Amino acid sequence: MNVLVLVGSLRPGSTNRQLADAAVAHLPAGVGTTLFERLAELPHYSEELDHDDTLPEVARDLRDAVADHDAILLVTPEYNGSLPSSLKNAVDWASRPRGASVIAGVPAAVLGASGSPRAAQWAREDGVRILTVAGARVLPDTIGVGSAFQAFEEGRLTDAELDTALRDLVQRLAREAEAAHSAA
Ligand SMILES: Cc1cc2nc3c(=O)[nH]c(=O)nc-3n(C[C@H](O)[C@H](O)[C@H](O)COP(=O)(O)O)c2cc1C
Repeated sequence: MNVLVLVGSLRPGSTNRQLADAAVAHLPAGVGTTLFERLAELPHYSEELDHDDTLPEVARDLRDAVADHDAILLVTPEYNGSLPSSLKNAVDWASRPRGASVIAGVPAAVLGASGSPRAAQWAREDGVRILTVAGARVLPDTIGVGSAFQAFEEGRLTDAELDTALRDLVQRLAREAEAAHSAA
């Protein structure tokens, strides 16, 4: 059982990366994770590129990564009221080719951290929406971390209630992934 982690912030020291790490720490023992670290290398999606002979290697690697994992954890900052283009682009690549998309039916959950107290709410909502439209089986509940630059200490959320909610959500994702894995 393996979970693919996509983090929309590309900067070192990202609070969303810290949130991803805190979430991964709550996964049950035995669940593997992979952080897809090449979002910045993905060209903008183009149908012109989306053919066997022109498909960028990194797009193929992303699709293979989605196909090889049992669930997706999407962790997003909020940029101008939505999720960053890095994540939208990754979901666009994963959602094609139409009818043979690797993301169809994959359990997914969305987390988000932002500097404002609104906790990346719009970005999280958009994350749920685009994953749903792409055909993933998205958990409707999300976890948002507001005032994110003060929210972590030694890799953990300092808000114990929020940390418990994070644990519950990622464990629910793991159960969904397990069910999908057993059914496959
Ligand atoms: C281009 C840009 C747009 C932003 N727009 C928003 C926004 O709409 N809402 C918000 O809460 N924060 C916004 N922010 C601040 C981000 O919340 C903050 O930079 C981000 O959460 C940091 O995430 P990271 O620590 O994972 O890089 C914006 C930041 C950037 C760079």
